[in-house]
Amino acid sequence: MSTRKRIAVAGGTGLVGAKVVARLEAAGHDTVALTRRTGVDLTTGDGLEEALRGVDAVVDCTSLESTKPAETTAFFRAVATNLQQAGTAVGVRRIVTLSIVGIDGLGGAPFGHYDGKRAQEEATEAGQVPTAILRATQFHGFAGQLIDWMAKGPVLACPKQPVQTVDVDAVADELVALAVEETTEQRVRVDVAGPEKRMLADLARAIAEARGRRLWVLRVWLPGATARKVRAGALQASADTKIIGGTFDEWLAREYPTR
Ligand SMILES: NC(=O)c1ccc[n+]([C@@H]2O[C@H](COP(=O)([O-])OP(=O)(O)OC[C@H]3O[C@@H](n4cnc5c(N)ncnc54)[C@H](OP(=O)(O)O)[C@@H]3O)[C@@H](O)[C@H]2O)c1
Repeated sequence: MSTRKRIAVAGGTGLVGAKVVARLEAAGHDTVALTRRTGVDLTTGDGLEEALRGVDAVVDCTSLESTKPAETTAFFRAVATNLQQAGTAVGVRRIVTLSIVGIDGLGGAPFGHYDGKRAQEEATEAGQVPTAILRATQFHGFAGQLIDWMAKGPVLACPKQPVQTVDVDAVADELVALAVEETTEQRVRVDVAGPEKRMLADLARAIAEARGRRLWVLRVWLPGATARKVRAGALQASADTKIIGGTFDEWLAREYPTR
């Protein structure tokens, strides 16, 4: 094990953040969750410097449920800027940011999340604290999130798009490794993806079935340049992407063991 460190996890109560916190603690590190529920609003930065005292590295796993480019850009930019400013003031050694594979040139509603993620990457790399940006593809459970957000009764209108989903547990392992790593590198970028290319609608059908829900999954063609690039595979792995974790089917069997 590396020496005991104190790591702050922005969004440490969320889907990814909680996994990062659990792994760090299991490895014997101290953690601080930076979330509104734990008393830190990262969009204002109030109280952040105090929370970061003695912290060695920060992992940014924050998120916002919005498809509006202006909202997501303001949110992610503010969070990244505040983490950089407070991190610089107290001598944080590294900020690790979770982002998304292939988002360059993508955005505009309903893909506004990507505008925010690019603003987050830009703002974190504009600061003085050394950074590591881990871009991951969509998680295996992403189609389940789509069902939760977008299904209307028994129908889900699912964008026709190929994906190369990744196991969120493997992504959490990568974030932890970057947070505890001893390095003098200033700007690190790593892309990770799962091992298989699949269609998003097929994953949605499989998750609905595993949940025991009757769902009619319609493949829809969204208009616009971003939708066209996404249909052409923009969000999938490229030649430099590191392949990590198991397949969607392995994840599904683990996530829904009684189906
Ligand atoms: N889903 C995917 O397939 C996928 C793939 C690749 C990358 N990602 C990225 O993964 C990241 C994390 O996603 P997730 O699903 O783990 O998010 P999540 O479950 O929605 O959790 C978001 C976290 O952010 C915190 N938060 C929100 N607003 C905050 C604020 N103003 N101040 C402080 N904390 C705040 C929340 O805590 P409070 O509400 O208590 O503040 C929560 O802990 C996202 O940025 C996303 O882009 C997702």
